[in-house]
Amino acid sequence: MQIPTPQEAEQLLQEAERSNPGHWPHHVRYVAQAARRIAEHHPTLDPEAGYVLGLLHDVGRRKPGRIRHIVDGYNLLTELGYPDAARICLTHGYPLKTLDSDVDPPHKWDLTDEEVQFVRGFLEHTHYNEYDRLIQLCDSLALPSGFCTLEKRQLDIALRYGVNEWSVRRWQAYFALLDRFNQAIGRPVYSLLDGIVENTLGFKP
Ligand SMILES: [Fe+2]
Repeated sequence: MQIPTPQEAEQLLQEAERSNPGHWPHHVRYVAQAARRIAEHHPTLDPEAGYVLGLLHDVGRRKPGRIRHIVDGYNLLTELGYPDAARICLTHGYPLKTLDSDVDPPHKWDLTDEEVQFVRGFLEHTHYNEYDRLIQLCDSLALPSGFCTLEKRQLDIALRYGVNEWSVRRWQAYFALLDRFNQAIGRPVYSLLDGIVENTLGFKP
């Protein structure tokens, strides 16, 4: 796979964090940890690759913006010669393979028409691999404060951005991903995520 080393990925994340500080890097680090843990128990996935892809999925947030972080991250990692990491920037939020399923309606997309066309085509024509699916799932299991259930994360998104006609299908797609990985690793994904109960319930001992 053409992806950075964990050290390079950490450096890229730290640069991004410096240029646009916030809660998002905390979420990113939990995504990376979840991806590594799940991959450790998975028959085909590599834990280090899962970790690196988790660390970089939101690297486009180095600039402020909303949906445009997916294109910025893709462009950055493509220019650096890491196509297998770049694709994750585009695919991680779209288990339904369409930009229309975004939580934001098209009039709020901070992308040019050409970028919209590009992302639409990419999502439609890319055959998702198990790493795309892994990061989609892990992105939905991590708040900035720690690991959480799918329900908690999706409700958190709905409370911040609202719901639309795609919401139920999106939730169904995430539950299907959770089932897929529970089956693949032969145990509940949740059982690998330290502190998930306390963080989901908002209880800090
Ligand atoms: Fe994320």
